[in-house]
Amino acid sequence: MRLGFNFTLGDTYDLVQRLIAEGHIDYCEYLIDNFFCVDPDEIAKAFDCPIGLHVMYSRFLEADRPTLVDFAARLRDYIDATNAIYVSDHILRFTHEGRAFFHLGEIDYSTEYEFVRDKVLEWQEIVGQRIHFENYPSIMDGGLEAPTFFERLTKETGAGVLFDASNAVCAYRNCGTPLEAWRNVIAKAQHFHVAGYRNSMIEPFISLDTHADSLSPETVAFLENFRSVFDKPGATMTYERDQEIEYDDIVADLKLLRGLFGEPQERRHDLVVSA
Ligand SMILES: [Fe+2]
Repeated sequence: MRLGFNFTLGDTYDLVQRLIAEGHIDYCEYLIDNFFCVDPDEIAKAFDCPIGLHVMYSRFLEADRPTLVDFAARLRDYIDATNAIYVSDHILRFTHEGRAFFHLGEIDYSTEYEFVRDKVLEWQEIVGQRIHFENYPSIMDGGLEAPTFFERLTKETGAGVLFDASNAVCAYRNCGTPLEAWRNVIAKAQHFHVAGYRNSMIEPFISLDTHADSLSPETVAFLENFRSVFDKPGATMTYERDQEIEYDDIVADLKLLRGLFGEPQERRHDLVVSA
């Protein structure tokens, strides 16, 4: 298992450099649309390690085709310049009847499958490659249907799942989606996220994917229990932390993950682009 760190903010540049230099991570994942203002070649040279690209605001379920074509053309320059080991995105709602959500919205898995499948096919065709879509830290009961939705989606579109382990733990805590229900998704997935979460400040208390804390005991137990299902050749796990950024805390979690999964088998120059 290769370990990585998410790079979402210019502020953590020195931290990521240090994580690489000290061998705590093997690659870096850019939240790439945050960096569309930076020249692709500069992005490619910024870190001496392989690069994954995570897309946040393509809004591919809602944007019209010309907008997506333009977004994909910009994204393509970064994919090519970095020789990205994967490209990932989110299945999310950003608006409802023209009004922007304050929090990103989960889709209705039971009624929107065909719509999402067709959009995923179109988005992969426009970008020109396979995309890995992240699971949501579900809040509502509809989250119970997420595992079978993702299984079907990957079968029918060729897309991958970027499986966020702590999002699945949040969904379990919030709506009871069993972690076991994700087994087939995890077995097929090559790219993973993991992070800390925290309870909301007001009732009803829900677990929020805050990226602001160390890994919870529940998340660590999940990784331990499914270790052999997660780990496979070419697998990556990105540790997400973009608040409460404490170097020693981050390193402690990365060491925990290294202890769990061992040193990656792959040498850096052997990495291949996931098609
Ligand atoms: Fe994530």
